[in-house]
Amino acid sequence: MDFTKPRYTPMSRRRRIYEGKAKILYEGPEPGTLIQHFKDDATAFNAKKHEVIEGKGVLNNRISEYVFQHLNDIGVPTHFIRRLNMREQLIREVEIIPLEIVVRNIAAGSLSQRLGIEEGTQLPRSIIEFYYKNDQLNDPMVSEEHITAFGWATPQEIDDIMSLAIRVNDFLSGLFLGVGIRLVDFKMETGRLWENDLMRIVVADEISPDSCRLWDIKSNEKLDKDRFRRDLGGLLEAYTEVAKRLGIMSEGERPQGTGPILVKG
Ligand code: TMP
Ligand code: ASP
Repeated sequence: MDFTKPRYTPMSRRRRIYEGKAKILYEGPEPGTLIQHFKDDATAFNAKKHEVIEGKGVLNNRISEYVFQHLNDIGVPTHFIRRLNMREQLIREVEIIPLEIVVRNIAAGSLSQRLGIEEGTQLPRSIIEFYYKNDQLNDPMVSEEHITAFGWATPQEIDDIMSLAIRVNDFLSGLFLGVGIRLVDFKMETGRLWENDLMRIVVADEISPDSCRLWDIKSNEKLDKDRFRRDLGGLLEAYTEVAKRLGIMSEGERPQGTGPILVKG
């Protein structure tokens, strides 16, 4: 072993900064960085429903890496630096803005329920919604008035967040359309990143089938976490299909990264 090379602290000795429902954040190797670890836990309805689906974390790590790397490449700023291993990526430490930003292109989920619009209805234009990130309150929907009055973000920051959301939606819609998938809606998060005295808003957290609605163009089959929320089964297969179509995972590769490997021929 070459001890002169920098290496990452083994997981057990790393300082855990935060543990969420699907991810853990550890202290990073340098100041201003963190390690984002993707767990196999699937939750829905504010964790009232919970299951461990072996391999989900590996798939979300890869899919989210793919999305964030491409966003970086086209000049949409994100917290992503690089993937480290099967379950972890190196990210910039940001101050998370306590909002979930949902962009919708087609009616589904809570929009359909709340407003009585049939699932699958094309919306007249993309709709951006804000939810206050607070599990105790069940992430309530809020307006720009609430956001500015309570100081969660300034009017200028809301403008920046909305431009980011539109750029991410345009990029993701095209990306998925190219592989025969309709982007129905998605959720993203943002954070404040300081570089010297300059602050900018960047896309943070993850973008994966856990946080998007993805429907196959031809069959309308759901390729996202609604498979779990609605007890449809086949979540891992659906996420694997998304990864394969994006060209991330080669045929026969096992998302688990452990266990016997299928040897063909
Ligand atoms: P919704 O229709 O349930 O409001 O969900 C809209 C989108 O946001 C959908 O793609 C799923 C995603 N989402 C999350 O990522 N986290 C959440 O907590 C919720 C409620 C939705
Ligand atoms: N917020 C996530 C969802 O419903 C997970 C959860 O609520 O536990 O998709």
